[in-house]
Amino acid sequence: MNKIKSIVITGLAVTVGLVSCDSGDMRRTPGHVYVPDMTYSRAYDAYTSNPNFEDGLTSRRPVAGTIARGHELPDHLAEGDTNAYKTFNTALRFNDADMAEGKRLFNIYCGICHGTNLDGQGPLFTSGKFASMPANLKDAKYLHMPAGQMYAAVKYGKNMMGSYASQLDIKQRWMVIAYIKKVQSENGGDAYTYAAAPAGQAEVAAVATTAAAEAAPATGQEPAAATHE
Ligand code: HEC
Repeated sequence: MNKIKSIVITGLAVTVGLVSCDSGDMRRTPGHVYVPDMTYSRAYDAYTSNPNFEDGLTSRRPVAGTIARGHELPDHLAEGDTNAYKTFNTALRFNDADMAEGKRLFNIYCGICHGTNLDGQGPLFTSGKFASMPANLKDAKYLHMPAGQMYAAVKYGKNMMGSYASQLDIKQRWMVIAYIKKVQSENGGDAYTYAAAPAGQAEVAAVATTAAAEAAPATGQEPAAATHE
């Protein structure tokens, strides 16, 4: 037993000794690669040049006219077109969770100036570090402001207020504006119009449609009252 032990210990000592006796030369050769196909990707890496495209770029732009999954159709509001701003609107409707998200985004991106109470008294302004008074969104001047005009301010900025187009995608911009409109509606503003139909209502409508279809058999026509969204 002792013999085996001493053989093992000697073996280890020799190994450690050999390893630590490395001459210290820098190794310039990479050794053998077991699976070169996996070690060196055959695909073109992003940002590398690419002989397959005329412009030589590997990273491609989205195909013209396509919309990324989960994103909205692009809006065509042009900067400075105040007439268009005033009538511009969205077909998006928001449920309670969206509204909570709109509030969260507002507090992150807008609250610093406009205040989490929407009264223009955000910490950046009250600290005196920002010279221009941010819009008091509860003030009569803004209570009835068209949503499209607000959208334009978020997209392009307004005087001292910068654009938030790169921080908020189209849906997020409208979520924030819907949140502002909701708060305004509770503070003397116009009635709130961005509410999604409450969950369950769609099914109720579908059941009613089916019932109506069954009540009017074999005409091959849609029941007149059927609504399609
Ligand atoms: C850095 C401070 C700052 C931030 C952040 C900011 N704003 Fe403003 N905002 C202002 C100022 C200042 C004005 C007043 C501009 C003017 O009328 O000269 C303004 C004006 C507005 C107006 C009125 C636009 C108009 O046509 O008169 C709206 C609506 C608005 N902001 C919404 C937002 C929203 C929504 C966000 C967040 C996405 C936001 N703001 C973020 C400073 C800010």
